[in-house]
Amino acid sequence: MENPQFTLLAVDDDATQLELLRVICEKIEFPSIEYLSAETGTQGLETVKSRSVDLVLTDYRLPDINGLEVLKRIKADNPLVSVVVMTAFEDARDAVHILQNGGDDYLVKPTRKDEIEHLIVRIFEKSCVVRENQIVQREIEESFDGLSMVVFQSRAMQQVLNLVSRSARSDAIILITGESGTGKELMARLIHKSSLRKEQPFVTVNIAALPESLMESELFGHAKGSFTGADQDRAGRFEEADGGSLFIDEVGDIPPSIQVKLLRAIQFGQIQRLGENHTRQLNVRIIAATNRDLEGLVAEGSFRTDLYWRLNVVNVTIPPLRARKEDIPPLVEHFIRIFNLKNNRSIQGITREALDLLMRLPFHGNVRELENMIERGIIMARGTHISLRDLESAGVKTSFEDEIHQLCDSATGTDYQEKMNSFEKQLISCALKEAKGNQSEAARRLKISERRLRSRLEILGIHNSPDQEASGSGLDANVELPRHDRRDRGIQD
Ligand SMILES: Nc1ncnc2c1ncn2[C@@H]1O[C@H](COP(=O)(O)OP(=O)(O)OP(=O)(O)O)[C@@H](O)[C@H]1O
Ligand SMILES: [Mg+2]
Repeated sequence: MENPQFTLLAVDDDATQLELLRVICEKIEFPSIEYLSAETGTQGLETVKSRSVDLVLTDYRLPDINGLEVLKRIKADNPLVSVVVMTAFEDARDAVHILQNGGDDYLVKPTRKDEIEHLIVRIFEKSCVVRENQIVQREIEESFDGLSMVVFQSRAMQQVLNLVSRSARSDAIILITGESGTGKELMARLIHKSSLRKEQPFVTVNIAALPESLMESELFGHAKGSFTGADQDRAGRFEEADGGSLFIDEVGDIPPSIQVKLLRAIQFGQIQRLGENHTRQLNVRIIAATNRDLEGLVAEGSFRTDLYWRLNVVNVTIPPLRARKEDIPPLVEHFIRIFNLKNNRSIQGITREALDLLMRLPFHGNVRELENMIERGIIMARGTHISLRDLESAGVKTSFEDEIHQLCDSATGTDYQEKMNSFEKQLISCALKEAKGNQSEAARRLKISERRLRSRLEILGIHNSPDQEASGSGLDANVELPRHDRRDRGIQD
C-alpha cells in the first residue's frame, strides 16, 4: 500500500514550538506528514479553507482569536477536520470546553515529543475509522427498512413489535402508551413506515405544545378572516395527512371542546375548517400517543368515554426501560454509533464497569435519558471506550451514595413494607455480587451474621448460587449478556 499522506497544520505564535513540531512531523514515517504552519488564529483558519487539512494542532493562547474559537469555527465549517488544542497548565480547566465543542483532544504544555507522535498516529487512525463509518452509515440509510431503527433485545419489546407488525398494515387506529422517553414517537414512525401508506405523508401534531386557542385551527385548518390574524385560508394537520397517517402526540391533553370535533373526524373521516360551513371528507390513519393514564382521565370526566373507545382499538404499550434492561447493551451500542457520526468521534464501545453502572440505573427518563448519557459520554470520552470516569464527567452519578439514592428510587412496591423488602433484596444482591456469591463474605460486608443473611435470603426469596457469573447488577439479576455477546457489542472488560 502506498504510504498515506496526512496533512497537519500547527498554529502557534511561538516560533520555537513550531520548529519543534516540524521536526517531530519529519521523523514520523507512517503516515507521511505534510507539515503546514500558521502564526495566528486567522491565518490558520485561512489555511484550513484553502488547503485540505486533516489535523489542526493549535495553541490556546494566540495573538488574535483563542484556540477555542479556532476550534469552533473549523468544526462549524468542516466537522471532519480533527482539532487538538494545546493549553498551558493554568488553562487546563478549558479542556472541558474544548471537548464539548467537538475538540478531538487537548494537550497540556509543555508537550512531550512522544505524546505528540502518539497523538498524530491516533488521530490518523481515527480519521480512517470515521471515513469508514460514513460509508457504513450511507449503506444503512440506503437499506433502511424501518425496523432497523427500533433497537431491542428483550422479549417484552419483541411482543410489542409483533403486535405492531400485525396491526401496522391495517388502517386500525393505534394508541401508543408508555412513560416519557420510551420511544412512542419512534414507534409511530415505524408503524407508518410499515403500512401501505408509507409513501404518503406522516404528519405529527403535539397537543401538549399547542395553546387551546390555536388547537382547532392547527388540527382542522381555518378560512381567511375566521379570527384575528387569519389572513389566508389554511389547511390543518388532518388535511396535510390526507392519504397518509396523522400522529397525535399527547392526546390525553386535548380539551373537551376539541374532543367532540376529533371524535367526529375519526368516526366519519370528516373535518370542517374553522370559519367554513362545509365539511371535507378525508382518508387519514390515526396513530395517537400519551404518557397519561387515559382510563383515569375518563374516570374523572376530563376525557370522553366515546373518544377513548374510538382511540383504543389497538393499544401498544411500551414498557419502561427499567423493565427491559436487556435492551440497554444494544441501545448503548446503537447510540455510540449514532453519536460517533454526529460528533465525528470514533469511540469503539463501553467498558464493562460503565455498562454495569448503566444496568443499575432506574432510568426514569427511559431511552431518551440513556441516549443523552451516551451522547455526553462520547463527548467526554478520552480513551477508546466510554469509561466510568467519562460517565462521571458527563454528569452521571457514580458514587456509592448516589447508587443508594438510585436504589431507593428503583425500589418497587406499593406500600412501605413492599418497598423495604425490595430495597433489602437489592442491598443483599449487591453484597452477594461483590462477594462473588460467597455468603460469609457477603454477610461480613453487610455487617450482619451469616445466619441472619441466610434467613433473609429465604424470606425474601433470593436465590444465590456461588459459582454463578456475577450479575451486572444487584437490582436485576437476570439481565447480563452472555460473554461471547459482549465482544460483539464493543464491551471492554
Ligand atoms: N428502541 C429504540 N431504539 C432506538 N432508539 C430509541 C428507541 N426507543 C427510543 N429511542 C430514542 O429515544 C428518544 C426518545 O424517543 P421518543 O421521542 O420516541 O419517546 P417518546 O415516548 O415519544 O417520549 P415523550 O413521551 O417524552 O414524547 C428518541 O431519540 C428515540 O429515537
Ligand atoms: Mg414523544
